[in-house]
Amino acid sequence: MIYLQSIVSTLQKIMSYQSRINRFSSLNRNFNRIAHFGCSTGYETLALSVLLGAHEVIGVDINEKSLQQARDEIKNIHEDLKIVGRNQQYFQNLPDGIRLQVENFIRDYSSRNFVEYVEYIEGDITQRTSLQSDYFDLVFSDNSLYWVACSDNDTTWENTINAIREMSRVAKPTGIIVANEPKRCFDGKPLNLRSLFEQNKLLPVEISEDIDLAENEAFYIFKRA
Ligand SMILES: C[S@@+](CC[C@H](N)C(=O)[O-])C[C@H]1O[C@@H](n2cnc3c(N)ncnc32)[C@H](O)[C@@H]1O
Repeated sequence: MIYLQSIVSTLQKIMSYQSRINRFSSLNRNFNRIAHFGCSTGYETLALSVLLGAHEVIGVDINEKSLQQARDEIKNIHEDLKIVGRNQQYFQNLPDGIRLQVENFIRDYSSRNFVEYVEYIEGDITQRTSLQSDYFDLVFSDNSLYWVACSDNDTTWENTINAIREMSRVAKPTGIIVANEPKRCFDGKPLNLRSLFEQNKLLPVEISEDIDLAENEAFYIFKRA
């Protein structure tokens, strides 16, 4: 039962990212390879793999402790999925809605082992990381560029520009760069990253549908060419 509870809790965490990921998933691109800048403890990285059907997802973070937690969690999720997948009677008594989600999750896991497609590496996104150039269909930051920007020098924005340059370097020429960031820093300083993306010669991607954003939330979506 403990395995099942853990699967349900993993699924709930994954689904909590769905509406954010839906903002760009409708672009109908092939999101096979994804780089996640500032992956922290890794659930969102796993959500990108599960919800976008990716085959290679690399989370990068500067904090080794968070990365270790991410690696431990993913190992546990892998074990739980194997056990629950072999013992389907475990979830037959779940309420309909959640049972269906668990069934789909297990089915997806047995057809493509998404856990093994996720990797977490240490790196400083304001420097050149070990990620390959021109490689990723999607380079994603969720509340991570702002960590860099809010402690950056407002006159030069050097670290933030470097981080955006790094996002651009590792994106495929046909890939997209997506950032979901607050409009204000923790000290109230306004934050608009648009011109910093443009300084890196990135072009905005237009999306046709309205995006539902919270008041303090900005959504940036750019491409290289
Ligand atoms: C708010 S968390 C991101 C949370 C993530 N979006 C999620 O929902 O799980 C910001 C992350 O950016 C990381 N970070 C901050 N500066 C960084 C840098 N220069 N290089 C790499 N990671 C950095 C932090 O360690 C932290 O884990």
